Amino acid sequence: MPLCPMRQMLEEARKGGYGVGAYNVNNMEQIQAILAAAKETRSPVIIQASRGALEYSNLIYLKHLMLAAVEENPDIPIVLHLDHGPDLKLCKEAIALGFTSVMIDGSIDYDKKTPDGKHPARSFEDNIRVTKEVADYAHARGVSVEGELGTLGGIEDETHADEVLLTDPDEVEEFCKRTRVDALALAIGTSHGAYKFKHEPVLAMDLVTECRKRAPDTNFVMHGSSSVPQELVAEVNKYGGKLPGAMGVPIPSIQEAVKRGIQKINVDTDGRLVVTAAIRKVFVEKPSEFDPRKYLGPARDALEKLIASKMRDFGTAGHAGDYQAKSLESMKTFYAKQKR
Ligand code: G3H
Ligand code: 13P
Ligand code: ZN
Repeated sequence: MPLCPMRQMLEEARKGGYGVGAYNVNNMEQIQAILAAAKETRSPVIIQASRGALEYSNLIYLKHLMLAAVEENPDIPIVLHLDHGPDLKLCKEAIALGFTSVMIDGSIDYDKKTPDGKHPARSFEDNIRVTKEVADYAHARGVSVEGELGTLGGIEDETHADEVLLTDPDEVEEFCKRTRVDALALAIGTSHGAYKFKHEPVLAMDLVTECRKRAPDTNFVMHGSSSVPQELVAEVNKYGGKLPGAMGVPIPSIQEAVKRGIQKINVDTDGRLVVTAAIRKVFVEKPSEFDPRKYLGPARDALEKLIASKMRDFGTAGHAGDYQAKSLESMKTFYAKQKR
């Protein structure tokens, strides 16, 4: 199966009423673990790379590792997605590498820094301008686009605190119509990283329902969706880690968000936690071990197990054979007609 356009994968999920996990990758073991989980559970899957991941892997290594995953798994629909693209330049680079989807994070101006070292939030009009520019470029090549309205915590903490905003449903319809994004990240109270909430997790679920009404044909994305399982945090801490008070989004909240209209569920932190716990365990229990395969192997196995359970929880499991991936050529024709 060729690589899948993200628009198609998310539309299938929207029709089927399930969510698709988008899992961040930086190295071979993560890619292998995620694909093994997809194969085991028969799930379509989005593997995504951030700017940091592309820099870490010198772009070309990650590209070939991802393509190896595609070659190894011809029966699994796979999307290669750029996560949090800061500008048109990186989106173009990702498209040139063969990604079938890019996110343009137009809610933040990564080019500017205020005297206190933070990136300012963009205005609505400015967000539309940069997002549309990316969408026009990507769609002309059949590539899907994710935009963002509102801001999240975590990697976006460098924005001004007073500008960290939940998505305004009143802006959703106009944003989707003018930019023609295939997917839209909604800010509903989640944040990136292991410390999402101080007390009880609270999400603005009604926002999802409201946004679904305003843009019935757009696919919605929930960033910051790691659940930070307490047993994993305890495992990291047991073997010498220090993650006091880490807290994530409970699985039932994610399932509720999917019911109300979310299709793409972004997960990075949980993968980091499970890998860290597994490696720490080997280091503590076998201090004389120094073969990287002896700790990266167990980390890969633990990650596969975690992702497989997410695929079941998100409802993705069993849907790999539902459709044949469309070509980027056919998506190009689709977008060209849509523009007329
Ligand atoms: O959304 C953020 C992801 O967790 C990626 O994080 O920029 O450290 O690769 P990163
Ligand atoms: P987490 O930090 O909750 O895993 O979120 C990841 C994410 O949103 C990547 O874009
Ligand atoms: Zn994110």
